Amino acid sequence: MGEMRVHDKQFEPYISAEKIADRIKEIAGKLNKDYTGRKPLFIAILNGSFMFAADLFKELAIDAEICFIKLASYKGTKSTGHVITAIGLDMDLFGRDVVIVEDIVDTGKTLSEFLPQLHHQQPASLKIVALLHKPEATVFPITIDYLGFSIPNKFVVGYGLDYDGLGRNIPEIFKLIE
Ligand code: IMP
Repeated sequence: MGEMRVHDKQFEPYISAEKIADRIKEIAGKLNKDYTGRKPLFIAILNGSFMFAADLFKELAIDAEICFIKLASYKGTKSTGHVITAIGLDMDLFGRDVVIVEDIVDTGKTLSEFLPQLHHQQPASLKIVALLHKPEATVFPITIDYLGFSIPNKFVVGYGLDYDGLGRNIPEIFKLIE
């Protein structure tokens, strides 16, 4: 694919569909090994991770469950600042091996606020799988246990990721031309 326009901005090909698929197979291979006999619960965070979660889940050869949640951020009290709540988390996490599926960790703010809420439910284990990570942008350090690609601090779209609502359907990852 050549360059692509999304809204008012121009993007160039960055990570091909083939590269993504290969990396997903590698990650799934590790998960298949690490979670043999444990029936993990994958929690995919919408909207961005829907494509990644689907492709990753297809490569799992173990018994595994998946659910999808949305995170909403609202303004709490002065002392609590922004509060993140999970919409649609109707599973009991107590004693479960939980794996969070994220599209991209940017500043790390979302997960750093949300993870303590999950720990509160006392899962047996809690790991993170993320397709992309921008280490230069991360100010709230997050341990990503299974990572697709580490990328520079550039805006990307495609493969589930959007620019102002558009671009999610592009089957590969494109990078903003600056
Ligand atoms: P964080 O809380 O800063 O880590 O934000 C993570 C969320 O911001 C991701 O789940 C994405 O939805 C969004 N995001 C961060 N960087 C990008 C990008 O380059 N393209 C599209 N969405 C992004």
